[in-house]
Amino acid sequence: MEKKGARREAILEILHDRGGLREGVSKEVHQETGVPEADIYGVGTFYHLLSDPDAGVRVCQGLSCKLADSDGLKARFDAEGKKSCFTACLGRCDMAPAFWDPDDEPPLVECALSPSSDAHAIDLAAADGTGYEALARATERGPDWVIDELEASGLTGRGGAGFPAHIKWRAVRNQAETERYVVLNADEGEPGTFKDREVILRRPHLVVEGLAIAAFALEAREIYVYVRGEFGRVKRELAAAIERARELGVLDDSVAWHLVDGHGAYICGEETALLEALEGRRGMPRMKPPFPVEKGFRGKPTLIQNVESIACVPAILNRGGTWFQEAGRTQPGSKLYCMSGHVVRPGVYEAPMGVTMAELLEMAGGVVGTLKAFSPGGASSGFLPADQIDVAMDFAALPKVGSMLGSAGVVVLNDTVDMVEAALNQAVFFEDESCGQCAPCRIGTQILRQMLERYLASGRDASTLEIVDDVSWGMCEASICGLGQAAALPLTSAMKHFPREFGVGTG
Ligand SMILES: Cc1cc2nc3c(=O)[nH]c(=O)nc-3n(C[C@H](O)[C@H](O)[C@H](O)COP(=O)(O)O)c2cc1C
Ligand code: SF4
Repeated sequence: MEKKGARREAILEILHDRGGLREGVSKEVHQETGVPEADIYGVGTFYHLLSDPDAGVRVCQGLSCKLADSDGLKARFDAEGKKSCFTACLGRCDMAPAFWDPDDEPPLVECALSPSSDAHAIDLAAADGTGYEALARATERGPDWVIDELEASGLTGRGGAGFPAHIKWRAVRNQAETERYVVLNADEGEPGTFKDREVILRRPHLVVEGLAIAAFALEAREIYVYVRGEFGRVKRELAAAIERARELGVLDDSVAWHLVDGHGAYICGEETALLEALEGRRGMPRMKPPFPVEKGFRGKPTLIQNVESIACVPAILNRGGTWFQEAGRTQPGSKLYCMSGHVVRPGVYEAPMGVTMAELLEMAGGVVGTLKAFSPGGASSGFLPADQIDVAMDFAALPKVGSMLGSAGVVVLNDTVDMVEAALNQAVFFEDESCGQCAPCRIGTQILRQMLERYLASGRDASTLEIVDDVSWGMCEASICGLGQAAALPLTSAMKHFPREFGVGTG
């Protein structure tokens, strides 16, 4: 039983500071916080970085890294006697094959955040700076003006769901409860996605200013930033930017800023799982409703926004909502697209919302080899064939062709790629990262991976894949959160577009 006054929210940070779940640590944390030791152990084991602190160098298994021979990299580490393990996508797809050594972070790649050549795209660089004009304008004109401008801009969330930002801001603002929170989701774990990393590294003041504006407009007194555990440099950059803004006197002293480490769990990017992590629990998504705008962090109204979404706010207030609205081609605004896999120049490209895949490929220097397929928005978006390169890369057009924009983590596959292996790579990821809370996802992800392995082991006997449709239907319909709902898509979309590789038909 947890004692009254136990410091549950502190346990993950203390576990992190003690170097993870080493012998005796859960007992020490229990003594320090009053949370039962078994509970601390149970929470700690949920997070990869805490449960296995001595795993050594983590070698990325994301699809882009796999294509760039991350298996070979791991074998080299093994040959050198360097302790290493495989890990889920590290958010470094532009540096494939990537690895993460906490004691030896790789140097920054020269400015991957490349402004597009399209004159209508927002140049995030131009909007950056330490002038904080948008914050000054917001405080002068007031919260209603801020939210009206957001509404006029048509900004939708860039974290994956594409939900209109102004609706969330207004919903939090309209709550009778005055204890409110702003939470920044910087957990960036969707395989193929690395834009939030670049935004914070290259334009940290946009993020600080956007958050300060949100806290002002919603009258929140605390801001929490949840930063992916493997993004040490990102966290340091953001902390330095907050410090600099304080020195400049532009941040209101009445607002407290908290930078919180993630601990290696993809599911904590899901907003309610993230809240569970902030509250010192296993990152298991909550049932919605109630939505975080009503009952979020500590049960209080909470705005949760993605890094890219928040970084758009200063430009919207400086240049006007209408300007942002018109910057998009098919939907409002510009968008950061992450290009990796078989492209000449992997990186983050800013383009008008609705740019086509063909144009993005051109920006990234073209395909290495011959295009076969692409994943438009991270692992959750499945695969599309090469003949879909003229589809608008936005939140409306991609669902019409059975995919989604998601976090715009575009992975490009050339004709050397075996789609069965590509689908298996994603299946392994989802099985590993399922929080295990609901059966359709926990069991479904396992069955999908097993079926693919049996298919390969049997010399591609299509009968091993007979129940894919039934399993994926159950996962889509009955999973609590987006992970389980999307986890079958890589396989079902690959089977649909490349049936011959799965032993069906002639495609
Ligand atoms: C499995 C899963 C993983 C997610 N991972 C992230 C993530 O890493 N970063 C993020 O901003 N949103 C992620 N999301 C979306 C969040 O739940 C949420 O919609 C988002 O943070 C809200 O911010 P936005 O409206 O600015 O996009 C994820 C959702 C799901 C279902
Ligand atoms: S769908 Fe999967 S990840 Fe989401 S709550 Fe259920 S078990 Fe957890």
